[in-house]
Amino acid sequence: MSADARERLRPLCRIDDIPDGGARGFGPAPGGFTGLFAVRQGGVVRAYVNACPHLGVPLDWVPGRFLSTDGTRILCATHGAEFRIADGHCLRGPCLGDRLEAVMIEIREGVVLVPEDAGL
Ligand code: FES
Repeated sequence: MSADARERLRPLCRIDDIPDGGARGFGPAPGGFTGLFAVRQGGVVRAYVNACPHLGVPLDWVPGRFLSTDGTRILCATHGAEFRIADGHCLRGPCLGDRLEAVMIEIREGVVLVPEDAGL
């Protein structure tokens, strides 16, 4: 991440606010329409824009529910697409081969930071 981008980060949450092995959704940034969600696996957090590459709709069918029951895949509620947690690549479903839009994150002193304009 460039020094310029680093200055324009906003706090998303504390890492402990995301359940280990789970996910959490976040509403849009001020003035935006699309939110984000973050998946945590131990000390690793990955964040994506909450929009399915198929139709652009939010993935969670129940607010905050993004993962398969075994916690190994990200799911889209609308048509059941499955995505790899590590890189958002679609493994199954109508957007096969496409991927979720990843959001850069930085963790500083336990706080997850994302670019100011992420998820607008
Ligand atoms: S909108 Fe996500 S699979 Fe169709």
